[in-house]
Amino acid sequence: MLSELDQILQKALQELETAKDESSLESWRIAHLGRSASLMLLFDQLGKINKEERPVVGRRANEVKQTLEAAFTKRIESLRQSTLQRSLQTERLDVTLPGRSLPLGRLHPATISMRAVIRAFGDMGFQVYRSPEAETDDYNFGLLNMPPHHPARDMWDTFYTSMPNVSLRPHTSPGQIHVMRQYATEPIRAILPGVCYRYEQISTRKETQFNQLEVLAVGKNITLADLKGTVSDFARRLLGQNIRTRFRASHFPFTEPSAEYDFECLLCQGKGCSVCAYTGWLEIGGCGMVHPIVLQNGGYDPGKFSGFAAGLGTERIMMLKHRIEDIRNFWANDMRFLEQF
Ligand code: DAH
Repeated sequence: MLSELDQILQKALQELETAKDESSLESWRIAHLGRSASLMLLFDQLGKINKEERPVVGRRANEVKQTLEAAFTKRIESLRQSTLQRSLQTERLDVTLPGRSLPLGRLHPATISMRAVIRAFGDMGFQVYRSPEAETDDYNFGLLNMPPHHPARDMWDTFYTSMPNVSLRPHTSPGQIHVMRQYATEPIRAILPGVCYRYEQISTRKETQFNQLEVLAVGKNITLADLKGTVSDFARRLLGQNIRTRFRASHFPFTEPSAEYDFECLLCQGKGCSVCAYTGWLEIGGCGMVHPIVLQNGGYDPGKFSGFAAGLGTERIMMLKHRIEDIRNFWANDMRFLEQF
């Protein structure tokens, strides 16, 4: 029996050498260490041999079993190691290679410009008020002192909608009525930013969509001096202490008196260049003292209250600052333009 055990051991170890993968190792384990392996059958026969031989054979059988188990574990371990080594070699990943960088988003130039303007007015104590982009005829015109059929309405080429009396706002001025009606008769220091729409012939200077910012101050004893001071201070905050401003008399139905204001051309310091059409000045927006009828429509008694208002196109400021020659760039979605800011 001892020699039979030796044979079993020799044969099993030889076969183990030839097992090259996990599945042949598993077949080997079943064949040599499984229930019906010759070694296991030999254990069953131990009871039949005589008492003197039994311990010797039994010990040897156990040794053979342990040797085979150890050899099996060693073999399977080395097989796993070599599989691992092979995959480490062939599937090598160079983590030092730079990855693909994600494109970083940025603010749209119209937003950058709007934020700069809002910041300047915010620092002077004005608060942002949002008003709707679609308005009734009354808000867009009527309550701003332009009754139906009034020729002044022609100053705004308006988009009318299929809903009677509703149009897209052609300016942010209707927001004045909303703020006043909400806060009458409290004092107001408000700025109203937002997109406006006009049925324009599109050109380098005109778009059907653009941002405006409306300024409104209402209270007691507000004068034209406050308007001039605020607009000039705004210019200095945005463009530097030395910037000069000027006011020219003008007409708007919702202000009396009315003016337009210009900033000294930044590009030529007032000397005259192609951007300012050789005048040295850049037109920024309209302004004036809030018309008594408008104050009344907002819920303020024009005998007790007064106010000033101003409006400006915020894309224009960006155009002046960066010499952008075509307003259409703002909404054309061309990355070559947008990535410059
Ligand atoms: N709403 C005017 C426009 O879009 C601009 C304007 C002029 C606003 C005078 C004002 C103002 O508040 O007082 O052309």
